[in-house]
Amino acid sequence: MQDQARESRQFLHRYTPPPIDGSFRGKHIVTVEQFSRSDLRTLFDVVFDFRSRVTNHDRSLLDICGSHVMASLFYEASTRTDMSFQAAMRRLGGRVVSASNGVQFSSVYKGEDLADSVRAAACYADVIVLRHPEVGSSYQAAYYLDQLQARVTRQPVVISGGDGVGEHPSQALLDLFTLVDLKGGAAGQTITMVGDLRNGRTVHSLAKLIGKLETRNTTLCFVSPAALPMPENIISYLKTHHINVHETGDLQEVLGQSDVIYWTRVQEERFENRAEYEAIRNDFIMTPEVMRDAKPDCILMHPLPRKNEMGTPEQRDALDLDPRAAYFRQMENGMFVRMALLASVLGAV
Ligand code: NCD
Repeated sequence: MQDQARESRQFLHRYTPPPIDGSFRGKHIVTVEQFSRSDLRTLFDVVFDFRSRVTNHDRSLLDICGSHVMASLFYEASTRTDMSFQAAMRRLGGRVVSASNGVQFSSVYKGEDLADSVRAAACYADVIVLRHPEVGSSYQAAYYLDQLQARVTRQPVVISGGDGVGEHPSQALLDLFTLVDLKGGAAGQTITMVGDLRNGRTVHSLAKLIGKLETRNTTLCFVSPAALPMPENIISYLKTHHINVHETGDLQEVLGQSDVIYWTRVQEERFENRAEYEAIRNDFIMTPEVMRDAKPDCILMHPLPRKNEMGTPEQRDALDLDPRAAYFRQMENGMFVRMALLASVLGAV
């Protein structure tokens, strides 16, 4: 496992992700750094179009990816990312393949390495959605797929569905789309991210994506236990992109000024030391009482899944009734955004 971790990380340097630069077709999607402001506008136009067509049960959607196959390759648990990508592909008329009982019963069980499993998926599918516990794993997949192209007749692409504690680009795209959808975008907004900012890949990608927008009047507040801060490389990335950054351990300091509150789970599975997790798991709990001090027109986002950081089951039920709770809309938007992403990299729009 240590070897795999070291090997995957190397590809952060060995593989340079191509900028989208106006053309999505055939591009691997491994980091939000590939998107420019205008690429986001192009993608979101497609998302709005797909959303209204899905809502109207427009059958012409089925022709968009009718000749394509997507492979779902998940080495880590997932509900939303996996299901929304699969639903997205099917709503575009495409087909989905995966190892029948999950990767643990594929040749991974026999000791096959990541590169070979990715190559196999690429021989059968046009696009692979990969989730893997190691940082850099999707870069590694992209690197080997580029090499494979000389040996096969097609040019399959990989889309990251989350690289360990690294990035989760498609989640950031759906988070930003939800911000555009409900708040008109990130410009002029105070966006507060709360929880496990060290291990949460969704907040890493979303913060960087907001950095790409370079809106000088956006403020990002990071609220976390002292042991789980936003990584230093992301803070400096934001500063070079002219985003105002405010880090604190005190939610009350920023709650009343926040236009967007992005709550996250403490990533239990990333802790080597159980006691360390237990010590901070209850530091930030979102409840209806906490929301009482939040702006009346703010939105509350969460990538889900949620656990104790969103209170008791009763408190969660009450939160869900708050009109500011945006996480179901966010989840639904995930499918539309992934439809647009799939159709775009497959050159189908
Ligand atoms: C997130 C993830 O897997 O990073 N979930 C998701 O994709 N919606 C967040 C999490 O697991 O806490």
